[in-house]
Amino acid sequence: MSKQPYYITTPLYYVNDELHIGHTTTTIYADTLARFKRMDGYDVTLLTGSDEHGQKIFEAAKNQGKTPRELADSIVGKFKEVWQAIGISEHQFVRTTEPYHELVVKSLFAELKERGFIYKGIYRALYCKECETAYSQSALIDGRCPIHKTVPEQVDEENYFFKLSACHELLRTRLADDRDDFTPDPTLEPDTDSILPIQRRNEALGKVREGLEDVSISRTTFDWGVSMPGDPEHVIWVWFDALIGYMSSQIRPDVDALGDELPKLADLAEAPDFRKNWPHVVHLVGKDILWHHSVVWWSMLHQAGLPIPHRVYAHGWWSVEGDKMSKTLGNVIRPIETVEKYGRDALRYFILREGPNKGDADWRHERFIQANNNELANELGNLLSRSLGMLGKYHNGVVPQAQVDVPGTDKLRRLADELPTKLREHLTAFEFGRALDALWDLIRVCNAYVDETRPFKMAKDESKSGELATVMHALLQSLRVLSFALDPILPEAAARMREQLAVDLNMLPEEDRLEAACTWSDDFVGTQTTKGDALFSKIEEEAADA
Ligand code: MSP
Repeated sequence: MSKQPYYITTPLYYVNDELHIGHTTTTIYADTLARFKRMDGYDVTLLTGSDEHGQKIFEAAKNQGKTPRELADSIVGKFKEVWQAIGISEHQFVRTTEPYHELVVKSLFAELKERGFIYKGIYRALYCKECETAYSQSALIDGRCPIHKTVPEQVDEENYFFKLSACHELLRTRLADDRDDFTPDPTLEPDTDSILPIQRRNEALGKVREGLEDVSISRTTFDWGVSMPGDPEHVIWVWFDALIGYMSSQIRPDVDALGDELPKLADLAEAPDFRKNWPHVVHLVGKDILWHHSVVWWSMLHQAGLPIPHRVYAHGWWSVEGDKMSKTLGNVIRPIETVEKYGRDALRYFILREGPNKGDADWRHERFIQANNNELANELGNLLSRSLGMLGKYHNGVVPQAQVDVPGTDKLRRLADELPTKLREHLTAFEFGRALDALWDLIRVCNAYVDETRPFKMAKDESKSGELATVMHALLQSLRVLSFALDPILPEAAARMREQLAVDLNMLPEEDRLEAACTWSDDFVGTQTTKGDALFSKIEEEAADA
């Protein structure tokens, strides 16, 4: 049986600046889900990339005395360094300046035009360059952009428009406008629960109910963009361009072979990866760009005759120690610095534990240290080192067979058995904190089991050797399960656990991998383990400062 496709995307990030912790959060969420779904037997495609056109990049490059291309190249190099530092697993990267991408943009534009959804008109609007989006007067706060607090510029030019107003019914149906009792279903179900979390769907629906205006999709005052087929004075609006990256990356037409010919969209849509992955798509985005990823994007696709992606998940925003994160305040958190100082997994853990997956969240350094010291170093790190330490002393590091019943042992096994169901449920619903709770329940119960059974006491009494073997067996089985199940969350620590435990993800069968990972294994008995360095070090000095 062929594997089910699962295609997950991050936004394509602007190349005007280096990435901060907000971009990193979306990417870590996506990577965690991609790793988990791979372990759960899906055929996963993880896409990230760079959004390189538009007025913002054009002006940023000018200010730095660079061409937009030079700026994009240097920033894209830095994106890739960040992905490496935070341990992003196998992924695709799309750049919106790639010729194959531009070709797909043109083809989709041509299709919409042919179907009568594009027309020329006069564009008068208040445009926030930072958002690359127009605002109505009523959407501004004190005449300023609600997100960037800057005064938008007045645009007055002849543009091409996309008939978004024609999509009103489509959007109301898609957003299940008739269902007040709407509750999300965590399985991938199109049409009803296409936006999560539910309050974000309600926000989008509220805006749709207010009415939809057509959107301008071209500009003439600068030339850094995809030129419009048939009217090269215009470049295509950067959002219209960038959203198509989610498709173009799955099509990658051979531009050289096509020559000057503009392929039909229906032909491009026959590309094997596109056919496989579309519309089994999960778009992960921040709340500020949900409108583009739902209302605008769905309408573009639907009117061009293509299916709409299954799901958009919009997370909240980080503030830092109670303040908005901003360059002006000088409180921008850069992921590479955090990784260099505290390690990759400390960063991933903190983001997944405390991040803005539902509402907004506040980055507090004191809590970062606490999470590292308590949950990672004490609870997880110590469990591994004390278990392997005892195993070394009492059984020469070799995993023993269980011998007699010891009270409390069944609970460890049961918590491991329950992990696949719990992880599936929580991760599919983007409940990263709950997924961590399920894992940490097992870790905490293991620690309590050591405290209660006191294997170090048993070891001093020969008549207790049967109990001691059972306790060591149960602890090691639990650690083996954790070394697999923690992989999507803490890939580095989990790999080091597996090394010390002499187990390998590749040992797991292809079928029912997740179940096999979380079930105690008879084959593990007799394995020679090797105690290694501590998984995490405590952050000492700063805890004192904080
Ligand atoms: N280029 C567009 C996306 C086009 S996708 C076809 C874009 N790029 S961006 O570089 O500005 O990245 C924005 C992403 O970073 C959004 O998902 C946004 O929500 C996120 N964040 C920006 N600041 C943030 C925080 N302070 N906290 C969390 N995420 C934040 O938009």
